[in-house]
Amino acid sequence: MSWALITFLAGLVLAQAVGRILGLRRRNVQQRAKLLSILGVEKSDSKKIIGFFHPYCNAGGGGERVLWAAIHALQRKEPDVISVVYSGDTDATKEKIIDKVKARFDIELSPQTLHFVFLQSRHLVEDSTWPRFTLLGQSLGSMYLAWEAMSELIPDLFIDTMGYAFTFPVVSLLGNIPIGAYVHYPTISTTMLSRVRSRAQGVTNSEAISSSALLSQAKLLYYRVFMYYYAYSLRQARFLMVNSSWTKGHVDSILQHRDILLDTIHLLPPLLLLKFLSLKGSQSSKAAQIVYPSCDTRQMSVFALEERERVILSIAQFRPEKDHAGQLHAFHRFLELYPEYRGSGPSAVKLVLMGGSRNVGDATRVENLHTLARELGIDSQVQFVVNAKYSEILNWLSRASIGLSTMVDEHFGINVVEFMAAGVIPVAHASGGPLLDIIVPLENEPTGYHATSPETFAEAFRTVFTLPKAAELAVRQRARTIAVQKFSAEEFEKGWDSSGWKAWLAR
Ligand SMILES: *[C@@H]1O[C@H](CO)[C@@H](O)[C@H](O)[C@H]1NC(C)=O
Repeated sequence: MSWALITFLAGLVLAQAVGRILGLRRRNVQQRAKLLSILGVEKSDSKKIIGFFHPYCNAGGGGERVLWAAIHALQRKEPDVISVVYSGDTDATKEKIIDKVKARFDIELSPQTLHFVFLQSRHLVEDSTWPRFTLLGQSLGSMYLAWEAMSELIPDLFIDTMGYAFTFPVVSLLGNIPIGAYVHYPTISTTMLSRVRSRAQGVTNSEAISSSALLSQAKLLYYRVFMYYYAYSLRQARFLMVNSSWTKGHVDSILQHRDILLDTIHLLPPLLLLKFLSLKGSQSSKAAQIVYPSCDTRQMSVFALEERERVILSIAQFRPEKDHAGQLHAFHRFLELYPEYRGSGPSAVKLVLMGGSRNVGDATRVENLHTLARELGIDSQVQFVVNAKYSEILNWLSRASIGLSTMVDEHFGINVVEFMAAGVIPVAHASGGPLLDIIVPLENEPTGYHATSPETFAEAFRTVFTLPKAAELAVRQRARTIAVQKFSAEEFEKGWDSSGWKAWLAR
């Protein structure tokens, strides 16, 4: 087939598509009127609709909390904005979802300016639907889902709060509306790509082209093309919010991602169309803006800061990446270096490991940690508290001196925020969220400590236990201030407002 023929066929398809898109937009006038009448809106001219794309809105996780908190803020502050959530929870109803949000997050949503568009094809974004080529399958699935969403209703502004960036080109094309996003986690990162790349290059060194070398080249190409389109999609957003420094680092580097070879290929006739479509979106790729999710710290932020017990507290699920063994080694080193904290007298220090154990794997890990504590000879000063009730967790938070977190590259670390809100001085691994976002100085004074090895953890414990009383109290106070202010609902709302959504909605 010649290029001319291909181009001709592409033209035909395009003409068809343009016809359908125009039809869809025409129909939207009625869809919109229908929605407004369902909600009983009278003066409909002044109303604006923001569509939130969140196919799993009833899941009750951290991502959902962000969605509901944002909508709740809109409902209070922008009476002329109607929030529409595109959800795949076809087994739920509007009332049920509102009730669950109240029960789960204590967020009270008003039914008056909230509407749900229930999508039938959510299975297309489920990983079980795509046992192979999951990334690609889910992404294509999300594009279809966006088509379904736009056929039901085109809002005035589209905001993805679940990380489906591949919906942006579809929404932009069908709706011709501005797009924004709140990104928790990048679908694919530039580090992933470079990891695949270095492996692929490593393998090709072998003499004959083995099948595995071919495979890894194919895999590299797959990731490379995927990244190309992911970056292309993300750049269509007019504003991008991210939940942490870690995510910002990744999203910014994706926005900068360039691939000259693939750029060149896109100068060929059928693909040139894509270039053409992307022109209107591509100028808006700025850096992402950090908007921290709010953490509910009301209960712990009232605990007394004085008279703390000599307890080092760890709160983390018994999962391998939390590195509980590292905590035992650090504590062992601490007692080795400073034997005055041994024993059971008034100066003795206790390590308390609290956490959830979800399955046999976790339970086995807890057993092994018991064994390790015995082997290190510290078991009389280590206490395990597994699957405690929330009230018991709060109780320990109100008594402990130090909060310990050893996970490397934790993206955030809500446990560290909770330590700090409770006035427990955090000692955390110097990486990820605890380093970049959470345990940061307040007015140039420390709010906690970082460490990287058993020695440095031990020294940090020592530092805390030897702080003069006034200084110790000041660290606890500053830790609480950071936790309560930086991760408050007010800061979160301020962040949304400065993202620029209002300006885009006004156009
Ligand atoms: C951001 O989202 C990711 C993925 O859900 C999560 O692991 C991380 O803890 C979140 N960060 C914050 C600050 O909530």
